[in-house]
Amino acid sequence: MVVSSAPGKVYLFGEHAVVYGEPAVPCAIERRATVTVEERDDEALRVHSTDLTLDGFTVEYGGQADDHADVDVPERLVEAAVGYVDSAAAQARDAADRPDAGFDITIESEIPLGAGLGSSAAVVVAGIDAATRELGVELSSREIAQRAYEVEYEVQDGQASRADTFCSAVGGAVRVEGDDCQPIPDVPTLPFVIGYDGGAGDTGELVAGVRRLKEEYPFAADTVETIGDLVRQGERALEAGDLDELGRLMNFNHGLLEALGVSSRSLDEMVWAARESDALGAKLTGAGGGGCVVVLDETEEARTALSYTPGCEETFRAELDTDGVRVEG
Ligand code: PMV
Repeated sequence: MVVSSAPGKVYLFGEHAVVYGEPAVPCAIERRATVTVEERDDEALRVHSTDLTLDGFTVEYGGQADDHADVDVPERLVEAAVGYVDSAAAQARDAADRPDAGFDITIESEIPLGAGLGSSAAVVVAGIDAATRELGVELSSREIAQRAYEVEYEVQDGQASRADTFCSAVGGAVRVEGDDCQPIPDVPTLPFVIGYDGGAGDTGELVAGVRRLKEEYPFAADTVETIGDLVRQGERALEAGDLDELGRLMNFNHGLLEALGVSSRSLDEMVWAARESDALGAKLTGAGGGGCVVVLDETEEARTALSYTPGCEETFRAELDTDGVRVEG
C-alpha cells in the first residue's frame, strides 16, 4: 500500500490568458489531496472517497454497480472526479507496463472541488505517484506532471493547460507558458487567505465564453494580451519580493478577469471585502464563475472581513507550499 499527497494551487496571475499562450504564475498552497493505492488480485478498479467535499462515494469498475452515496454536489463533478481517477490509473498501468493491474483507491482531499484550487490536478498527481510506486516504479515529478496533464487533457476534452498539474507535481511558484513549465526560484513567503463561496464554476463554459468574447470584441483580445504583460510584471515583483506591488497587480488582474466576464457577484463581494480591509491584493483564482478568491494579506483582517461577507462560506489561510507530490508516512 502506498500513500501519496499533492498540493492544490492558486493562480497568482494569468488564468484564462494562459489558454491563449500568455504566461501564468500558479502557486502551490498548503492544502493537499491524499491518495492511498493498494494493488488488487483482480483487474478491477475500486474508488472510494471519504472526503472530497462530497459526503462520500464508492465506485467500482469491472465489479458491481456504481454507488454514489449521499452526493450533495453536482453529478457532473462526481463523474469528473471518477473520470480523473480512472484515467490516472491507466497512466500508472502504462508507466509500469502492467496493463492488467487493478487497484483499490481511497481519496481524501482538503481542497474544495472545482473551485479554482486545482483539486482534480492534486488528486491525479497524487494518484499517479501512489499507483506507480505501488507497482514498483518511481517517476520524477516532471514525468508525473506530464502524465497528469495527459489525464486532464483527456478528461477535459482537450481544454487543459499544464498549469495545475505541473504546479501540483513540483510545488512552489511556477511559470507556465504554452508547453514550457519552469519552477520560479527564491520566492518569498506568500501569506495567502482563501475565501470560498461554496460554489463551483463550469470551466469549459467559462473558457468558451472568453473565446466568444474575444472573437466578437477586440477589447477582449487586448485584455488577454494585457493580462500577459501584467504576468511578466508580476514575475519581476515576485523575484524582488515586493509584496505591495504583487498585491496591486493582483487587483488589476481581477479587474481584467471581470472585464472578460468570468467573475461573479460572490467573488466580487469577497474581493471588495478584502480590499476594504486593506489587504495587499485580491483576485479570483482559476476559471471563476464561483469558487474561490485568493487574497494577499499579512494580518488577520482580510480573513475576518471575508468571513462577514454574505457570499462567503469558508475562509482559510494557506501559505505557499514548496513541496510538490510526496509520499506520506
Ligand atoms: O479552475 P481551474 O483551477 O481548473 O483553472 C482553470 C484555468 C483556466 O485558465 C481558465 C483554464 C486552463 O486550463 O488553464
